[in-house]
Amino acid sequence: MCGIVGYVGDKQAAPFLLDGMSKLEYRGYDSAGIAVYNKGKITIEKCVGRLADLRIKIKGHEPKGTVGIGHTRWATHGRPSDRNAHPHADESGQFVVVHNGIIENYLKLKEDLQAKGHKFLSETDTEVVAHLLADQYDGDFESTVKKVLRMIEGSYSFVFMCAKEPDKLICTKKDNPLIIGLGEGENFIASDIPAIIAHTRRTYIMSDGEIATVTKDGVWVQNIDGVPITKKVYEVTWNAEAAEKGGFQHFMLKEIYEQPKAIRDTMTGRVGKKEGEITFHELNWTKDAFADIHKIYIVACGTAYHAGIVGKYYLEKFARIPVEVDIASEFRYRDPLVDSHTLMIVISQSGETSDTLAALREAKRLGARTLAVTNVVGSSISREAQQVVYTYAGPEIAVASTKAYTTQLIVMLMLAIYVGNLRGTLDKTLAKQLTQDLKKIPEQLHSMLENVDQIKVFATQYGSCEDAFFLGRSLDYAVALEGALKLKEISYIHAEAYAAGELKHGTLALIVEGVPVIVLATQADVYPKTISNLKEVKAREAIVIAIALEGDHDIDKVADNVIYIPKTGKYLAPLLAVLPLQLLAYYAALTRGCDVDKPRNLAKSVTVE
Ligand code: AGP
Repeated sequence: MCGIVGYVGDKQAAPFLLDGMSKLEYRGYDSAGIAVYNKGKITIEKCVGRLADLRIKIKGHEPKGTVGIGHTRWATHGRPSDRNAHPHADESGQFVVVHNGIIENYLKLKEDLQAKGHKFLSETDTEVVAHLLADQYDGDFESTVKKVLRMIEGSYSFVFMCAKEPDKLICTKKDNPLIIGLGEGENFIASDIPAIIAHTRRTYIMSDGEIATVTKDGVWVQNIDGVPITKKVYEVTWNAEAAEKGGFQHFMLKEIYEQPKAIRDTMTGRVGKKEGEITFHELNWTKDAFADIHKIYIVACGTAYHAGIVGKYYLEKFARIPVEVDIASEFRYRDPLVDSHTLMIVISQSGETSDTLAALREAKRLGARTLAVTNVVGSSISREAQQVVYTYAGPEIAVASTKAYTTQLIVMLMLAIYVGNLRGTLDKTLAKQLTQDLKKIPEQLHSMLENVDQIKVFATQYGSCEDAFFLGRSLDYAVALEGALKLKEISYIHAEAYAAGELKHGTLALIVEGVPVIVLATQADVYPKTISNLKEVKAREAIVIAIALEGDHDIDKVADNVIYIPKTGKYLAPLLAVLPLQLLAYYAALTRGCDVDKPRNLAKSVTVE
C-alpha cells in the first residue's frame, strides 16, 4: 500500500508532492522520493527512511519544475534502500514511473530487457516498467503506455512521466486505488484522497482499466483500446482525518474490510492456475529440502501465535511433519529440543517483536533452519531469518491485528500444501479441493462484510457483559483463541477461549446465567461433541452465540443466536469464522466507548521483552 502523488500546473510541483506524501503516512512507508521535470530533464530525489529524511536531503535545493510525481514506498519486492525507492527511471532518465502494487511477471520482462542490453539499478518489480516504456516508445507516449500495459500482469496504480512529452502525466490502475484531483489551471493525482483534499474536493475516482492523461488544463480518460470514457466528478465530503481511514470510523474497521484484498494480494503469484499447485519462488524448496527435517517449531506472540496454532494443523495434516507451537517469550527458557534437523518458523506482522526475534536468534544458535512469515519487508526478523515469506496485507495501523492474521493463515495453508506436494504426503484430490476453496475466500469474505447488522446487534446486546467465553474444538478452538484476544484487547471484557472438551475440567464452574458464550461449530468431525458442549453451557443458562456453516439447521435448535458463515472446506473455515469474531470485538468496543485503534496499555509493535 504505497503512497502515490502527481502534480501538473503552474506552481512548483515539489511542495505539493512532499505535502501530499506526508498526508499518506498512514499507508506506511520505508522510503520516499520525487521526480520533477524542468527544461528537458527529469530530476529524481529519493532515499530510504522516513519522509523527513527526504526533506532533509533536498532542503534548500528542491527540484524545480511544475510537473512531477512522488512516492512513499511500502516494500514488497526488494528491501528498503535508496536504490529501491521510487520513482524509477530507465537508463536515459527520459521515462519515469511510480507504482503501487505487484507485477507478477516482472522477472520474465526483466530477463527479456536485460537480453536487449538494459541495465537495472534496483531489485524492484517497478523499475522494469520504466525500461519497458523506453524500449517500446514509438514517439507517442499514450500509445506507448497502452503497449506496455498489455505486457504487464499483476496489480498496480501507475503514474508515468516522459521528458519527451513533459506537459502531461499519464496514470492508470488495476486492483489498487487511484484518484485525480481537479483544480483550476492545475490537476493532482494521488493514491488516496488525503493527499489532495487541501487543494480540491472535486475528484475523478479511477476505475480498473481506465487510462488518464493529465495536463494542467484538463484530464482525458480512455480505455486501453482508445475508447474515450466520460468520468463523473465525485465531490469529497470527508474531513482529512476521515479520509485517512478511507471513510471508516477506525483503522481497525478499515483493515477488517481490507481482508479480501489483502488475502488476494497474498495469494498472487503463489496460487497457480493449475488446481492443487502452490509455488513460493522466494523459497525454491525441493523434495530433498525436507529429507533431514524431523520437526518444525512455530514460534510467535499474540495473534501471530494463534495463526501458528492453525499452521500446526495444516502442516501436520498435509506435510506429515511433527510441529510444535510455542509462545516466543516461553520458547527460549525451556531448553528447547532444537538442532539442525529442526525448521523454525517465526510469525510476526511487524517483524520487530523482541520476544519473537529473541526466539529466532536462539533457534539459529542451536542450529535450526529458519523461516520468517512477516508483513514488513526489511524488518529485523525478515533480515535475520535465513528465508522469509511475506504476507501482502499492507500496513496494519490498528493495534488489534486482523488482516495480518488472516493473511498469516493463508501463508501457513499455502506453505503446508507446498510442502505436502513436495513430500508427496498430500493427496492430489485434496490439494485441488484446497486451492479451489482458497480462491473463493476473498469473495466469501466480501459477501459476509456486506451484511454485518446481526453482529452489531449482538455486540450492543452483550457489550455490557464483563465476561465472555469462546469455545471450540480442533481448528475452531484455534480460532476461539483469536476471538477471545480480539474481544479482550479492545473492549476490555474479560474473555477466555477454551477447548470445548476442556470445559468440564474446571471452567464450567464459571458458566452462570446470562454469561455470553461464543461456540464455534464449523468442524464436522467434532460437531456432535461440540453440540454436547453447547448444551452443557445452555443447561447453566448461558447465552450462546454459535458460529456455524450455512445450511446447518440443527444448531439453531440449541443456540440462542447463530451467525452463519458461507460453506467452505473444514481447513478454510478459520478464515471465515474469525471475521464475525473480529467484528463482534470491534462493535462491542464501540458500545463501551473504548479507543478501538489504540487500546489502553498496548502497543502495535512490542519491541521490549
Ligand atoms: C494482536 O491483536 C495484538 N496486537 C498482539 O497480540 C500482536 O499480535 C503481537 O504483539 C505480535 O505482534 P507481531 O505479529 O507484530 O509479532
